[in-house]
Amino acid sequence: MPDESPQISYTMRLQKFLARAGVASRRGSENLMTAGRVAVNGVIVTELGSKVDPERDVVTVDGVVHTLADGHAYVMLYKPSGYITTMSDPQGRPCVASLVPTERYPGLFPVGRLDGDTTGLLLFTTNGEVGNRMLHPSRHVWKRYVALVRGTPTARQLERLREGVPLDDGTSAPAKAALLAEGDPRAAAVAAEGCPYGHAVVQLTIHEGRKHQVKRMLKAVGHEVVRLHRDSFGPLGLTGLMPGEWRPLTADERAAIEALASPRAERDGGPHAGSAPDTYHKESNHA
Ligand code: URA
Repeated sequence: MPDESPQISYTMRLQKFLARAGVASRRGSENLMTAGRVAVNGVIVTELGSKVDPERDVVTVDGVVHTLADGHAYVMLYKPSGYITTMSDPQGRPCVASLVPTERYPGLFPVGRLDGDTTGLLLFTTNGEVGNRMLHPSRHVWKRYVALVRGTPTARQLERLREGVPLDDGTSAPAKAALLAEGDPRAAAVAAEGCPYGHAVVQLTIHEGRKHQVKRMLKAVGHEVVRLHRDSFGPLGLTGLMPGEWRPLTADERAAIEALASPRAERDGGPHAGSAPDTYHKESNHA
């Protein structure tokens, strides 16, 4: 006898599905579709209005299956200077909420914060559990910054940053610190026109998240931060974005974040749990 139970079908536009699955932005997903790279249940779909049922349909891009997993959204923003890290501000100051798709993803919130004048990678998610776990000190999520500072730190001052410096809320945990050479592409975000006379660019990687921590650490060794930029957060690197732009995490990035925030990661934790991207390990050789 045929199954007579009602089949409730929830459908969504294919390009929205692809964006939410972290395959590409909405526009990028449309391009994938029109290029004939997307199939639903084995049939190539190029029609932009096409709908899919995320629960039942099998969606592939270049033959690779993509799913919505738990339906949570993960978004990377290239935060520009001049925006405070809050989802609303009673004083009406520009805030990061205006730069990310809050209507599309209700409940989106920033994982941690950057100062108003700091630029760079800010992660948002609707997944409160993952967001809170990533912020927990026990996770040791590494965050890499580049700072334009007044003066040039000496080898001894860099060593003090690595050992930990006394701050008014306690000594900082050991960090990774290196001077970036003139013309190093990693310095471009804080010294686009080259390093101004009497300044230097420092790369500092920390796994704590105290208020103004990088600025305070560098001040503690005698160097005021003039410009600050974050180029990685745990396994995420700031790629594919211009200041003010956002994109969904790719499926791989999302998997890396979820693995980092899993209860298992806490058991396996330690100072290397939330490592920065691969390039980080190479750079750290001369950090
Ligand atoms: N440390 C700072 O001092 N400021 C930031 O925005 C982030 C880290």
